[in-house]
Amino acid sequence: MKVLIREEEIHDGIARLAKQLHEHYGDSPLTIVAIMTGSLVMLADLIRRLEMPVRISLIAVSSYRGKMTPGELEIDDSRMLDIRGRDVLLIDDIFDTGNTLVEVTARLQKLNPKSIRTAVFLRKEGTSKVTQRPDYSVFDIPNAFVVGYGLDYEDLYRNLPYVGVLEEADLKQPLPH
Ligand code: IMP
Ligand code: MG
Repeated sequence: MKVLIREEEIHDGIARLAKQLHEHYGDSPLTIVAIMTGSLVMLADLIRRLEMPVRISLIAVSSYRGKMTPGELEIDDSRMLDIRGRDVLLIDDIFDTGNTLVEVTARLQKLNPKSIRTAVFLRKEGTSKVTQRPDYSVFDIPNAFVVGYGLDYEDLYRNLPYVGVLEEADLKQPLPH
């Protein structure tokens, strides 16, 4: 598989994001709302670099249903922490059309947080269908289907420590089980 972002670059990128967050939030408590499952790896790496008090809340959103084209959005926020009056950082693995981030931000806004910012690990260039942009993106990438560092194809490849481009040819190979 063609490697797009190496492990060392990811390490530096997450450190950069942590620095930006410290500059913005200082020592104020932060509630991170992480969209599962894709942002799990980023969440684990990022929170260990944050020094302010951090609460973590998980939200499950499925959109792709194992395909390479977008489908309906399903949001499960039944395990959300109370975010009323809190500074909230919503994180996701990738900003593609932007629909996920827009819909989840709107959902969180109804819970009356003090503020909401958004951070994504990857942002695809030229694929957005919305006006909202993430406040932070660790890497901007060309429009390709990528896997690794949390990102999946049919729930596989999330465990790769790098980001790779999944080509049609890769899909014809038998997938690992
Ligand atoms: P959006 O709603 O179109 O911005 O898509 C966001 C979601 O689509 C992400 O959370 C991913 O689950 C999925 N996604 C979009 N592009 C890719 C990709 O290149 N690889 C893996 N998942 C992707
Ligand atoms: Mg996802």
